[in-house]
Amino acid sequence: MSQASSERIPTERLVIHNLARATDTRAGLAEDVRAGLSLSPKRLFPKYFYDALGSELFEAICLLPEYYLTRAENEILTRHADEIIREVDGQSLSLIEMGSGSASKTRLVIEALLRRQSELLFIPVDISASALETSSRVLLQSYPALRIEAYAGDYFDGLAALSEVKRGRTLALFLGSNIGNFDADEAHTFLCALRRVLNSGDALLLGADLRKSSEVLEAAYDDALGVTAAFNLNQLARINRELDASFQLRAFRHRVIYNKSAGRVEVYIESLREQTVSIRKLGMQIHFSEGERIHTENSYKYDLEGLSQMASATGFERTRTWTDEREQFSSNLFVCQ
Ligand code: AVI
Repeated sequence: MSQASSERIPTERLVIHNLARATDTRAGLAEDVRAGLSLSPKRLFPKYFYDALGSELFEAICLLPEYYLTRAENEILTRHADEIIREVDGQSLSLIEMGSGSASKTRLVIEALLRRQSELLFIPVDISASALETSSRVLLQSYPALRIEAYAGDYFDGLAALSEVKRGRTLALFLGSNIGNFDADEAHTFLCALRRVLNSGDALLLGADLRKSSEVLEAAYDDALGVTAAFNLNQLARINRELDASFQLRAFRHRVIYNKSAGRVEVYIESLREQTVSIRKLGMQIHFSEGERIHTENSYKYDLEGLSQMASATGFERTRTWTDEREQFSSNLFVCQ
């Protein structure tokens, strides 16, 4: 088994710790596809959306007129970043970001912090080492007072490593309503793990999409241009590429339903006809009936009471919430108790 390694980039302002083992993703994909497609109803897991093509498609989703989430959160951070950080106790903060990706919204928080303090330690955690390296280099070029200690790995490996890092008062970011792709018990486990690496008085800024009409929500996940459909069907294309499968993408369609009672958008891939698909690397034949669905993603939507409950159940208190002007999205300050 290969060991986690630390890669030192030739600048004393950047360290990237690579927590992922080279074989992890492939082995995980194979096992999860075998398990998920053997279930009834069939399932695939949202973390596998984000291969190179899927990550580009997600960046495109963020530009779509129907997908208001990114613009709304940008609006909140543009207007309120200074006020948000003033709410966190302490003169000088370190900044953690879980799932930092391209870190474009993070810039708004970094700039607000650097208006208040002369230097900043930024600790991003992301599954993609290449996204971390690219975004870190761009940030370091923009902000000479920034130092970055990055962790490439999944959230839980990242959190385990973070508990070893010496830092003062800390603000953690979990933006973009990424929390919404967890079911309730997964969100609880994640927030408890994050709380354990923070200290009393530290805070989490949690981006959470708000409940609204089915029309707006279903359009956000089923855009007219078909970008989200491509993002979803790319899971099958990825299985074709990586596990030598025979999915005919045109024989499936993207389906989106807002389940109001569960407060979540459900995303599916639906078979347009009866068919059998082989996944050669797994030695599997998968049968689909006409109309049969694979459940690929949930995206939970919140109300303020639910967010308060989630905070208090995991060792935080929701002390402030900012919304965009149309009240579609919320940025919530969860302070560690
Ligand atoms: C990453 N995550 C918060 C997105 C969401 O809104 O649930 C993923 C996504 N899936 C389809 N469109 C966007």
